[in-house]
Amino acid sequence: MSFEVPSELEAELDELTTHYPHKRSASLMFLHALQEHFGFISSEAEEWTASKLGLQPINVHELVTFYPMFRQEPLGRHQIKVCRTLSCALAGAKVVRDAFCHKVGLDLHKHGPQTTPDGLYTVEFVECLASCGTGPVVMVNEAFHEHVTVEKAEQILAGCRGN
Ligand code: FES
Repeated sequence: MSFEVPSELEAELDELTTHYPHKRSASLMFLHALQEHFGFISSEAEEWTASKLGLQPINVHELVTFYPMFRQEPLGRHQIKVCRTLSCALAGAKVVRDAFCHKVGLDLHKHGPQTTPDGLYTVEFVECLASCGTGPVVMVNEAFHEHVTVEKAEQILAGCRGN
């Protein structure tokens, strides 16, 4: 697969670097923009960013692997985020996450985000989604779901199948 940054995006990013005394200070902005465009940060994107900013690819890779908001793989069409912070954990977040994984055929014991081979679903634990009194809380793309149970997880998936 070839990696090509559209010329308008490249021009935008080039312009951005002029706002910083050191080009490398724009690293995170580059990565956010590339992730928004490509959906994730590939090793080609890391190399491209490094060459634009006068860095080594490892310098960029360190950022991508340090910050949890950066993705190294494409996401599924339906991104299911289950809050696992204390209130949601006590309310049953693990059971809910396992139900989602089980229903879409993902490994219950694997850590980190997982995507189904058909690219339809990504399931992952995330930290607090800022509705701690209504846990377990789940986000599916932009939709917010509260008091999620195993039964409700099934209904949510049924809704995804229709989209
Ligand atoms: S702990 Fe889950 S929303 Fe805050």
